[in-house]
Amino acid sequence: AGKKRETWSGSFGFILAAVGSAVGLGNVWKFPYITGEHGGGAFVLVYLVCIALVGLPLLFAEMTLGRLSKKEPVGAFSSLASAARGGKWWGFFGWMSIVTAVLLLSFYSVVGGWTLGYLVKAVSGAFSPESAANSGEAFGEFIADPYQTLAFHTIFMGACIGVVIGGVSGGIERAAKVLMPIFAVLLLTLLGYSLTTDGAGQALNFMFYPDFSKLSAGAILEAVGHSFFTLSLGMGVMIVYGSYLKKESSIFKSGMMIALLDTAIALIAGVTIFGIVFSAGQEPGTGPGLVFVTLPSLFASLPMGSLWAALFFLLLGFAALTSGISILEVAVAYFVDERGIDRKKATLFFGGTIFAIGLLSVMSTNILADFKIPVPGKGPLTIFDTLDYFISNWALVLNGLGVAIYAGWAVDAKQLWGELKDDGLGRTGFAVWIFLMRFVAPVAIILILLHTLEWI
Ligand code: PHE
Ligand code: NA
Repeated sequence: AGKKRETWSGSFGFILAAVGSAVGLGNVWKFPYITGEHGGGAFVLVYLVCIALVGLPLLFAEMTLGRLSKKEPVGAFSSLASAARGGKWWGFFGWMSIVTAVLLLSFYSVVGGWTLGYLVKAVSGAFSPESAANSGEAFGEFIADPYQTLAFHTIFMGACIGVVIGGVSGGIERAAKVLMPIFAVLLLTLLGYSLTTDGAGQALNFMFYPDFSKLSAGAILEAVGHSFFTLSLGMGVMIVYGSYLKKESSIFKSGMMIALLDTAIALIAGVTIFGIVFSAGQEPGTGPGLVFVTLPSLFASLPMGSLWAALFFLLLGFAALTSGISILEVAVAYFVDERGIDRKKATLFFGGTIFAIGLLSVMSTNILADFKIPVPGKGPLTIFDTLDYFISNWALVLNGLGVAIYAGWAVDAKQLWGELKDDGLGRTGFAVWIFLMRFVAPVAIILILLHTLEWI
């Protein structure tokens, strides 16, 4: 109270931090493997349409709700609708964001830890031709070791806590300014390498030549869901980041930039990974193991494989870290803003809680590997897989539905226009945006939910 709320230093700092949040495991790990599973080009095309029609409008919505309310998700959701249109009840979605953030980070950090573990393996020469390790088994052995996975989860959460304690411009923005340029250089280096292999032509063809016979309803719905995950939507991250945005910055322009960069990076990661995969005569559709199993076994057979592997896992680790930071900030911002708790205390408390919950995911590939939860419609799943399923398939999309209906129907459009009229969007652009939020996004989201329930 009385203290001035923190802000980004300017549009550039905001864009870097938001791109840091958006670009993560979703781009470098998940997008390539789901594209591989769904047969390439046609899926990529559908994904691009989903980003434009659903992802981008929701990204603008979250940023606008944040900057308009100058509040974290609980405040942003409970302060903008009149009592007749739900008033404070919308705050439910704010709470949901915070609970989702805590749970998502608890296992995102474990996977972030795996990337650090693989970085250490690479540096110590585990991916050289001489070591000839069967990497399929190597991954199984790695996650079966509770001490290693615990150690790397601890390092990953520790790094997130260290950055978030530093604050908005002094911690989060500064970390993004260091990590994102290195990430870009690493990615372009690996892309350059991949393009010189003889798998490059096939990779480009696979990614950009659409074969619609390979497209299924499931693939389309997965594309909608992934367009949320990849843009960090449905969890309040872009509300919080938008709330630190100064009025002079354009939501329209920075939102476009964030979506363009996130998309470009996913496409580049796909071309890079598939180039390497095809050059070794391997299949693209190996699923979640693409990055931790298929790729390492290929690195092992390349000249200077350890070096390429080290660069790749460093890149993946940096991408995961700037996303992890943003997830932690959602929870911390609530306590700082609404409860007036000191940032350092709030970060230590929340970071510690998330670390502790993450122990369940650490143990779910070893000590608790046999402990299965009977998930309706899915069968018995480990704790890790259960969390992933509920968050990726339910929490993010339900929260996205909340954002679309709240911004499209509950908040007065005049208020939104007041916030955006000097933003370069124009009246027509604004009307298109409102239309997409009122109709297109809710219909797309309800279709995904029905599909998840296996009703369609
Ligand atoms: N956008 C991140 C990625 O692509 C994941 C993420 C989701 C981060 C939701 C924050 C919130 O990996
Ligand atoms: Na992303």
